[in-house]
Amino acid sequence: VPSKAPRHFLTLNDVNSAELQHIIARAIELKALLRQGKAPALFDNKVLAMIFEKNSTRTRVSFESGVAKLGGHAIFLSTKDSQLGRGEPIEDAARCIASMVDMVMIRTYGHATVERFAEYSRVPVINGLTDEYHPCQLLADIQTYVEQRGSLAGKTVAWVGDGNNMCNSYIQAAELCDFELRIATPKGFEPEDEFVTPYQHRASVSNDPREAVAGADLVVTDTWASMGQEDEKKQREKIFIGYQVNKELMSYAKSDALFMHCLPAYRGKEVSADILDAPDAVVWEEAENRMHAQNALMEFLFNQ
Ligand code: CP
Ligand code: NVA
Repeated sequence: VPSKAPRHFLTLNDVNSAELQHIIARAIELKALLRQGKAPALFDNKVLAMIFEKNSTRTRVSFESGVAKLGGHAIFLSTKDSQLGRGEPIEDAARCIASMVDMVMIRTYGHATVERFAEYSRVPVINGLTDEYHPCQLLADIQTYVEQRGSLAGKTVAWVGDGNNMCNSYIQAAELCDFELRIATPKGFEPEDEFVTPYQHRASVSNDPREAVAGADLVVTDTWASMGQEDEKKQREKIFIGYQVNKELMSYAKSDALFMHCLPAYRGKEVSADILDAPDAVVWEEAENRMHAQNALMEFLFNQ
């Protein structure tokens, strides 16, 4: 039994700027080692439990493969086939699962669920996406920017589309990485005040995508209907129509601006096909970096 309280990663704010920089630098290092076929056995004898209450492609593959490549093992648990789907209290599941593994990753709906799990877990808990936050994706996005263009400090980032979990995590990233975030959403789809108000010196919110993108170094978007909002999809497609990231919108950004998307992407909706399929698109690198960034994160949390 660990003697001190475990270090969790439920939002990006669970690390400070220096720790974040360390994790990103280590992610870049681990990526190079893996590509050279020199994977260190960092997770020898370690087991990660992955709990999914929502679908996933990248999060599952990046965690499962990342842990395996570094000598550990990952267990996939979904609501459908675990007792969580039959109403076992999260606190009970947390105590049992955490007693048998070394780390837990959870993807769920309400953020309070991961907080409750973490409270009862004696091992580190990682947020693999909630309705409110997606911090692991930010690690990958920051790594990708740093690899392509260097530090984000002093840069301008435009968030176009829905004021969702990714947007909330970008707001925290703005503070930790010292960049200006300009958010443009349709009216009524702005991020909630509680996420923006503490960071007003970093993040501004408008309903004008061109104004947000003007002179930006990085333009980011995401699906218009997140998991859990399937019923609103058709209605949202009508409301969000002017918020597509395409060549016309990108022409307002800096000429060397990057485009990022956490994926899955819907071509012809939030992003035009030519932007996503451009030969120099970094979205595929961004997806791969999920694995490297999370490997660095897990090493960091194990070493606390
Ligand atoms: N970006 C991301 O989290 O992808 P998945 O939903 O496929 O895990
Ligand atoms: N905002 C999206 C991200 C998917 C990775 C969702 O929550 O569904």
